[in-house]
Amino acid sequence: MKFFIDTADIDEIRDLATTGLVDGVTTNPSLVMKSGRDMADVIAEICDVVPGPVSAEVTATDTAAMLAEADVLRAIAPNVAIKVPLTPDGLRACKALRDRDTMVNVTLCFSAAQAILAAKAGASFISPFVGRVDDIAGEGMALIADIVEIYDQYPEFDTEVLVASVRSPKHVVEAGRIGAHIATLPPNVLRQMFNHPLTDKGLAQFLADWEKTGQRIAGPRAAAE
Ligand code: E4P
Repeated sequence: MKFFIDTADIDEIRDLATTGLVDGVTTNPSLVMKSGRDMADVIAEICDVVPGPVSAEVTATDTAAMLAEADVLRAIAPNVAIKVPLTPDGLRACKALRDRDTMVNVTLCFSAAQAILAAKAGASFISPFVGRVDDIAGEGMALIADIVEIYDQYPEFDTEVLVASVRSPKHVVEAGRIGAHIATLPPNVLRQMFNHPLTDKGLAQFLADWEKTGQRIAGPRAAAE
């Protein structure tokens, strides 16, 4: 299961990238706005830090203008994935970009029917928004299960299911159980995944007992520090 980070905050990305657990990054216009940065600058910096796919979203709504924006975004770095909305124009742009071997993330997916269209348009990634479906009393994870099941029927679909709008570690666990390829996590969700009170308690006990032994683990590296 791959983890992308869902933010345009470069400090968060730099910090989390040191864990070695970050396979890519997703951004959207709201996240760029929140970062307060120029989009091209921040995408270039993210692409330097994370070698995996970095989604940068077009803001035009017609195919020709989306493709013009995609040219600008693609030129930033080879690992930019162009994010397009799940609209007829967006899927036309998706097909054209995939024909040019550009990675495409189709976003704002809220139904299995939409996900089928995206796969037929050759999307590299489909982004169903689980949290926003839950917000309107729907079943976000049922949507993921449907999409994974449908894609599995068609070996010719090579679109990866990228679970988006993730709100908690529970969403990540459910996505893993279903077999989704990727989850894009807000930084706080990735951090929460490390936490367990028994880990903290167990570590405190081990360290206290170790202290009582009076020993040190000392090799050449420890001695140099
Ligand atoms: C990622 O690609 C999406 O834009 C993002 O996950 C949306 O999350 P939100 O519903 O929390 O804004």
